[in-house]
Amino acid sequence: MRNNIVAGNWKMNKTMSETEALVTELAAMLPNTKAEVMVAPAFVNLAGAVGSLSNSTIEVIAQNMYFAESGAYTGEISADMLLNIGVSTVIIGHSERRAYFGETDEILAKKVRAALQKNMRVMFCFGEELGDRKSGNHFKVVESQLQNALFSLDANAWPHLILAYEPVWAIGTGETASPEQAQEMHGFIRETLAQKYGSGIANAVSILYGGSVKPSNAAEIFSKPDVDGGLIGGASLVANDFIAIIKAI
Ligand code: PGA
Repeated sequence: MRNNIVAGNWKMNKTMSETEALVTELAAMLPNTKAEVMVAPAFVNLAGAVGSLSNSTIEVIAQNMYFAESGAYTGEISADMLLNIGVSTVIIGHSERRAYFGETDEILAKKVRAALQKNMRVMFCFGEELGDRKSGNHFKVVESQLQNALFSLDANAWPHLILAYEPVWAIGTGETASPEQAQEMHGFIRETLAQKYGSGIANAVSILYGGSVKPSNAAEIFSKPDVDGGLIGGASLVANDFIAIIKAI
């Protein structure tokens, strides 16, 4: 069956020394769990975190990458650069990348392909905005995000993909999708995948929920059958909270 995963997206937070302190704390506090635990520090802190966690099962993952192999792309980071420092999983499509950095479905499709070509694992994020949900278009929006960025991939790409459904209205707002809303969408996503790729692939893909997951709501959200874990922003910056969320799975 599919893996449970709890991942912390640290976004543009924590200096190198703060990152070092947090990973050391997390490694010491990590409970015995079957879930995969991941953290995504900022680019400049990745190598340090990989070193600090070399004896831990916590995986260090990247928040982003560029699709080109190498070359004149000032400010960008390639798959090879990540792999070379021991990072082999990358988040692609986070709503903040879409909203603030103009990443379209087309760009994201290229990033996903580039990462997969390098045998990286991709955590692909997607989710509707508040207006989409209010107008009842949330299923359509989510389906088109998946279709545009992922549905031209071959079936053999899917074991390397993790999905993270993150309704934009719930990210960093303190407002969480109810466990029922999360399950409803996750069920829809799995069904959509099953129609396109078959139920074997659909049932094997981990679908994480993201958006204001905290210690107080994690257990209920994670208890839903199609929710396989979480992508955690704010609460992953505090060791006690992140550990409590890991314990909830
Ligand atoms: P949040 O962020 O937990 O702070 O809402 C989630 C995310 O952006 O992945």
